[in-house]
Amino acid sequence: MTLSEFQQLVTTLAADGEKLIDAATTASSLEDARTSLLGRKSGRLPELFKQLPSLAPEELREGGSLINAVKAKLEARLEDRRRQLDAASSSKRNVDLTMPARRQWQGSKHPVTLVIEEIEEIFRELGFTIALGPEAETEWYNFTSLNFPPDHPALDLHDTLYLGENVMLRTHTSPVQIRTMQKFKPPIRILSPGNAYRRDFFDASHAPMFAQIEGLAIDDGVSFVDLKATLTHFANQFFGKTKTRFRPSYFPFTEPSAEMDVECQLCHGSGCPGCKGTGWMEILGSGMVHPSVINAAGLDADRYTGWAFGMGPARIAMLRYDIPDIRILYDSDVRFLYQISR
Ligand code: PHE
Repeated sequence: MTLSEFQQLVTTLAADGEKLIDAATTASSLEDARTSLLGRKSGRLPELFKQLPSLAPEELREGGSLINAVKAKLEARLEDRRRQLDAASSSKRNVDLTMPARRQWQGSKHPVTLVIEEIEEIFRELGFTIALGPEAETEWYNFTSLNFPPDHPALDLHDTLYLGENVMLRTHTSPVQIRTMQKFKPPIRILSPGNAYRRDFFDASHAPMFAQIEGLAIDDGVSFVDLKATLTHFANQFFGKTKTRFRPSYFPFTEPSAEMDVECQLCHGSGCPGCKGTGWMEILGSGMVHPSVINAAGLDADRYTGWAFGMGPARIAMLRYDIPDIRILYDSDVRFLYQISR
């Protein structure tokens, strides 16, 4: 065979091979093309290799390089086509670009936590710091030092969850008043968020465990004016400019005592089922710290005066977010929680 005849055959093979490869549309038809071109047994290229020795000896070198070049070219083309087909079939089978992305679930703060943080921030700007106390308390801290008489009904097993003799789950955050006055010298301005416990039934407005925030301010010459001004400022900050009122009340550890109401946030004073027609909602209990409480904590009641308050952030969250039943706050139902914080 002459070199030019051989060259002719190689060129034809190259052209046919490229066509065959490009025409393959599936992995198996591409494999067929590979076998018919390069297959060891009777592929066209190996067959052509067999013709190589029929060339004149001085033409062997050039003939060899011609056929080797075509072999490399076809192999590369097969590999390219295999990649194309792979990409096309995997995008068809596995990836639907129109499918909505999967939702990333993310934790968020509980409404009561949000309210506590907001209240902390308002008082922090007034110079209050955060103080924490234990949830398991002794009778002395929870009741005696706070001026409860020994026969007060709150001490009864019916109202208090006792953990043992003299040890109970605190029924309010007021023991932190005592612990703070024992530890720090006036001026004292603290806020104390935490949980408290009572043997209540779990109904729409009561829970056996509930959050409370205690506030305490003690110094020389602190008066009821400071109490009223500070708590009114707080209500206006938290609810936005709102009407407030103070009603006389009673707590063993404050004298005088007052409960603070804000204008009903649902009807703005006209009266609705939410405020039982009164136009007002109670948000906290407060009063001037009783001198015997100041003395019990080891400070001199002849020198220092002060005021305190306690409020329930769950109740305030219910007002703020228009929640009709306190139990919703403890259900951990994200469909509800996500409506408030995301
Ligand atoms: N400890 C009272 C309660 O739980 C609230 C309160 C705190 C009232 C401080 C006056 C002063 O109801």
